[in-house]
Amino acid sequence: MSTAGHLEAEASTPANPFAFTAENEQKIAEIRTRYPSHQSAVLPVLWVAQQQVLADPSRPRQLTPDVIRAVAAACGLKPAYVWGVATFYTMYHTKPVGERLIEVCTSVACALVGGEELYEHVCHRLEVDPATGGTTADGTFTVRRAECLGACGYAPMLQLDEGPFFEHLTPEKADELLAEWKRELAARAGGKPATGSSGSVKEGLSR
Ligand code: FES
Repeated sequence: MSTAGHLEAEASTPANPFAFTAENEQKIAEIRTRYPSHQSAVLPVLWVAQQQVLADPSRPRQLTPDVIRAVAAACGLKPAYVWGVATFYTMYHTKPVGERLIEVCTSVACALVGGEELYEHVCHRLEVDPATGGTTADGTFTVRRAECLGACGYAPMLQLDEGPFFEHLTPEKADELLAEWKRELAARAGGKPATGSSGSVKEGLSR
């Protein structure tokens, strides 16, 4: 299958085709001024696109073909090239992610002090297969392994939503964090559990 074919196979285009907001168009124009060519701006433009996608509850939480095409158009590149870039870096979501993305470092410094056990514990709590990582049945959490995140001195650790680090973790501390994040999601959903069956998370946390 061609790269473009893979692009279509990985994700179908949603009904509302992606277009950058006026604010993001402006941001992209500014980003492009920092590079010698528009093509060179592909990484930050992909990031802007992804942030817009994740902020829009009407869209699938991934870089769908229409998003890739919009990035390609903004950078003067072919969609297949942009897809190749997006699939190379783990920070770009070419597969759907949950509302919270948990990345547990299992590289050597973390693995030596329980990183692997921490990863398996979080997977177990959320009923995600540790062999592959993945997203809970209700779409609330995605868990995956991460390569060294540069916090080796604070191992074991995990990162939430490509943002804050949580360090010196134990399974008990991880349970507290999961409970807190679940409460936040419930509050965000208006006091109700997040969409679909929240059972997998709820039951996992109560174990
Ligand atoms: S090995 Fe886990 S942060 Fe470096």
